[in-house]
Amino acid sequence: MNDFTGQTVFISGATGGMGAAHVRAYYEHGANVIIAARDVDAAHKLAADLPGGLAADLPGRVAADLPGRLAAELPGRTMVVRLDVTGEASWQNAVAAAETRFGPISILVNNAGVQNPAAPIEHTDREVWDRVLDVNLTGSYLGIKTVVPSLRRGGGGSIVNVASTTAHGGTAFFGPYVASKWAIRGLTRTAALELARDDIRVNSIHPGVVATPLITEPNAPGEPPISDFYDPGPYAIPRLADPEELSRLLLFITSPAAAFATGSEFVLDGGLLLGPVPSPAL
Ligand SMILES: NC(=O)c1ccc[n+]([C@@H]2O[C@H](COP(=O)([O-])OP(=O)(O)OC[C@H]3O[C@@H](n4cnc5c(N)ncnc54)[C@H](OP(=O)(O)O)[C@@H]3O)[C@@H](O)[C@H]2O)c1
Repeated sequence: MNDFTGQTVFISGATGGMGAAHVRAYYEHGANVIIAARDVDAAHKLAADLPGGLAADLPGRVAADLPGRLAAELPGRTMVVRLDVTGEASWQNAVAAAETRFGPISILVNNAGVQNPAAPIEHTDREVWDRVLDVNLTGSYLGIKTVVPSLRRGGGGSIVNVASTTAHGGTAFFGPYVASKWAIRGLTRTAALELARDDIRVNSIHPGVVATPLITEPNAPGEPPISDFYDPGPYAIPRLADPEELSRLLLFITSPAAAFATGSEFVLDGGLLLGPVPSPAL
C-alpha cells in the first residue's frame, strides 16, 4: 500500500518534531524527499542519518543555492532546500531546485508551524498575531500556490495541510494559533474543489497533542512548555501522540488506499475531541 518509489515528497518545516518523522517515513517507503527547512544545518544532519542522503556529499551547501545543472547531479533520494514559508521567492527557489533534481513534485506536506506565547487575545501583540498567521496560514497558501503547477506537470498528486484539534473549538490564550488552524480548514476545502479536476487531492490532518518541541519546549522565553501544564489523564487515550503516529496517517492519506479522500479532515487525537471520559464515580 505504502510504496512511494518514484514519487517526490516536499515537506516544509522538515527538521521539526513531526517534519523529521515524516521525512524518515517517506524515505523508508521509497520516496524522494525534499527536506525544506530554515535551519539547513539541521536539515543536513537529518539527511545524513538516512542511507543515500546527500548531506555528506555537500556539507554546508543547499540545493536551492546551487545552479540548475549541479542540483540535477546531486546523488541520493533526499535533497535539502532552504525555505522560509512566509516568503514567496523562497518557495519559488525551493520548488525550482526540487524540480530540477527530481522532476515534478508528487506530494506537498504543509507542515511548518509556530505557536504563539500564551496570552489572551486582548493582550496579544499585533506582531505575534501577524507572525503566527504568516507562518501557519500564509505559508500554507504560498505552498499550495507554488507547488500546484509542479503537481499538475506530474499529472496530479496530493496536498496535506497540517491543522490541529484546536481547529474544532476554542483554546484560551492561543488565539492566533487557533484562528490560523481554523483557517487551514477553509483553505483545504476550497483548494480541494479547485484542484479536483487536476487529480490533486487536498486534505488536512488534525493532530491532538504530539510530543514535539512545539509542546515540550517553551514557546517564549520564561514560559513553561505546554507539556508542563497539559494533562492527558482525563482523555480516552491518556498520553501524548508520537510524531510517527502522524507520519503513518500521512502515508495513508497520500497513498492510493485513500484515493477517494479529498477535502477531508483526518483527526488523530487519542479521543481529545470527545472530551474527558466519565469519572468512575458515575
Ligand atoms: N505538536 C503538536 O501537538 C501539534 C498538534 C497539532 C498540530 N501541530 C502542527 O504540526 C506542525 C508541526 O509542528 P511540530 O509539532 O512538529 O512542531 P516543531 O517541532 O516546532 O516544528 C515546527 C517546524 O516549523 C518550522 N518553521 C517555523 N517557522 C517557519 C518558517 N517561517 N519557515 C519555515 N519553517 C518554519 C520550524 O523550523 P525552525 O526550526 O527553523 O523554527 C520547525 O521545523 C505545525 O503546523 C503544528 O502547528 C502540532
